[in-house]
Amino acid sequence: MSSSKQATELVDKYGRRVDYIRLSVTDRCDFRCVYCMTEDMTFLPRDQILSLEELYRVAKVFTELGVRKIRLTGGEPMVRTNVMSLIEKLGALPGLEELLLTTNGAQLVKFAGPLKAAGVNRINISIDSLDAERFKRISRVGKLDNVLAGIDAAKAAGFDRIRLNSVVMKGYNEDEVIDLTDYAVERDIDIAFIEEMPLGEASDHDREDTTCSNAWVRETISQKYQLVDSAEKTAGPSRYVKVSGKKSRIGFISPVTHNFCEDCNRVRVTVEGRLLLCLGNEHSVDLRAILRNPNGDDVLLKQALIDSMEIKPERHFFYDKDHAQPIRLMNMTGG
Ligand code: GTP
Ligand code: 5AD
Ligand code: SF4
Repeated sequence: MSSSKQATELVDKYGRRVDYIRLSVTDRCDFRCVYCMTEDMTFLPRDQILSLEELYRVAKVFTELGVRKIRLTGGEPMVRTNVMSLIEKLGALPGLEELLLTTNGAQLVKFAGPLKAAGVNRINISIDSLDAERFKRISRVGKLDNVLAGIDAAKAAGFDRIRLNSVVMKGYNEDEVIDLTDYAVERDIDIAFIEEMPLGEASDHDREDTTCSNAWVRETISQKYQLVDSAEKTAGPSRYVKVSGKKSRIGFISPVTHNFCEDCNRVRVTVEGRLLLCLGNEHSVDLRAILRNPNGDDVLLKQALIDSMEIKPERHFFYDKDHAQPIRLMNMTGG
């Protein structure tokens, strides 16, 4: 295949343009959140995960195909050894408009400044409770104080925007929706409430019992704050509302109650180098085999990305009994 004939952008068969990549840099994490992992996880051996050089190569080729936004996910991105060297290189990639990070925040006291200096534009920080004991119950091992200090450090570092991510679950934290909103509003930062997705089996609860609809979350917050619909988008799955008279926006990510696949603009790369065309389906392409094939050059890699658009599924079918449910846990899928 001659490079001159190659497509220059990624468009799937439903006409959706893919310009957002979620790149998982590790399956490991220093937390064990109940909705994401089992308590006794085993992680991938080193030879199975992409090296930092391979991750960079994948990112670069994607940007050559029109990708403008890369979000680093995990597991927890900041536990990967030398991850800053990758982030610094990504920050200098021509064509990339947004370099983003989703993190549990535990190491931001150390890394917020260097991340900002490396060119990271925005950070999303997961926090599901403001109560230390509950925080530990949900994350199984996490220390709330480290995350709160991490949020302060991120604010001080001057990112364009900071957004908190809270997965709301009945019986765990649904009574903290207002407290979490207050916390974000007081700090002029955004917060997104996320419906728990059925990705793999949760070992401590039955997800169908805990999932809390965002319609309920919005109604609850409306009892204290006046919420105004907003057309603002981040090219992510969140629908935003403004809090009247405040700087914060509240996002609702509702994969369970509102399918937003219609405007899907993203694909994921797992740390094993598997290109996942959809979070809720198994359709994938083995990029690692191409990366490690001595005859596999960037032209071949690009062609594999272009061809993958043919198998990007139209939508996910969470909780639909007529469709198989994902068996991959979130840390293997890549946040
Ligand atoms: P912004 O760029 O700030 O809009 O971020 P984002 O919402 O795209 O990223 P983040 O990593 O904070 O993800 C928040 C939640 O949305 C996580 O639970 C993600 O797994 C989920 N999410 C992101 N993309 C998709 C998607 O394509 N489908 C589904 N079902 N969930 C997604
Ligand atoms: N459902 C919804 N969100 C999840 N996350 C992890 N597992 C799940 C799940 N099963 C969230 C984390 C983090 C983001 C990357 O994904 O809380 O904010
Ligand atoms: Fe770690 Fe994030 Fe998964 Fe929690 S949700 S275990 S912080 S990767």
